[in-house]
Amino acid sequence: MSTQFQYVQSYAAMVRAYLAAFPEDEAVARSVGGDFEHFGVLEHSILRQFGLKPTSSVIDVGCGSGRLTSQLTRYPKLSYLGLDVVPELLDYNRRKAARPDFKLELIAGNSIPAPDASADFVTYFSVFTHLLHEESYAYLEQTHRVLKPGGRVIFSFFEFAVEGLWGVFEGNVDWVRKRSFLGHINVFMHAADLRIWARRLGFKVIAFKRGDLPAIKVTEATATEKVQVGLHMLGQSFCVLEKPRPGEAAS
Ligand SMILES: C[S@@+](CC[C@H](N)C(=O)[O-])C[C@H]1O[C@@H](n2cnc3c(N)ncnc32)[C@H](O)[C@@H]1O
Repeated sequence: MSTQFQYVQSYAAMVRAYLAAFPEDEAVARSVGGDFEHFGVLEHSILRQFGLKPTSSVIDVGCGSGRLTSQLTRYPKLSYLGLDVVPELLDYNRRKAARPDFKLELIAGNSIPAPDASADFVTYFSVFTHLLHEESYAYLEQTHRVLKPGGRVIFSFFEFAVEGLWGVFEGNVDWVRKRSFLGHINVFMHAADLRIWARRLGFKVIAFKRGDLPAIKVTEATATEKVQVGLHMLGQSFCVLEKPRPGEAAS
């Protein structure tokens, strides 16, 4: 029996199919969905908005091609661990985005190879969108372990309340209708349920932001020519949870 979940294999298979059909940059862009710089700037801006410091230690689970990685190389004292299940994406990240001292590791899924209470931030951008709820929950248990007290986890998710995400769901339904599953799973979550998860896992809820509202502050510090200063939306919703400090209550 395989030691990897079907959806880990399906993500890797999708990346390999794109690499066989397109030039590398295009194949990788298709594999992670969307523009490298645009999403990198938005992800970096979210981290800054929710407390990133130049000396933070960041674990980026499902780091992929390095959209966030590349934005974080500007902080000489920041420590970074990027984890992913697809070797080809890690290899691209290593060549095109990461700094030599940034660590990039291949994982089998569901485990975070980091000591207890060692991270200021753990991120999952567009990762829980492709996992079963049980796997995301297990990742959040691990996240609680590796975060320092006061450390934060940021993850994005698909939710039905965001009209623009219905196309993703309708695509899933179409796969079922035609019995032709050509990609990876796309999973929806609900903010109300995630509040229950936060309570059970012992996190404090810091923020829920809908993907269709301009909730991301791109500042002088994070803007580029392509992604300018102002309020932007991610498309996906996102959530910020915090591991309480000793004596502090969870949600
Ligand atoms: C849509 S991409 C997002 C990549 C990156 N976070 C970004 O925003 O550019 C999803 C990423 O999650 C990774 N992934 C899929 N299943 C995973 C799992 N079980 N654990 C960790 N990463 C996973 C994929 O290989 C891919 O790199």
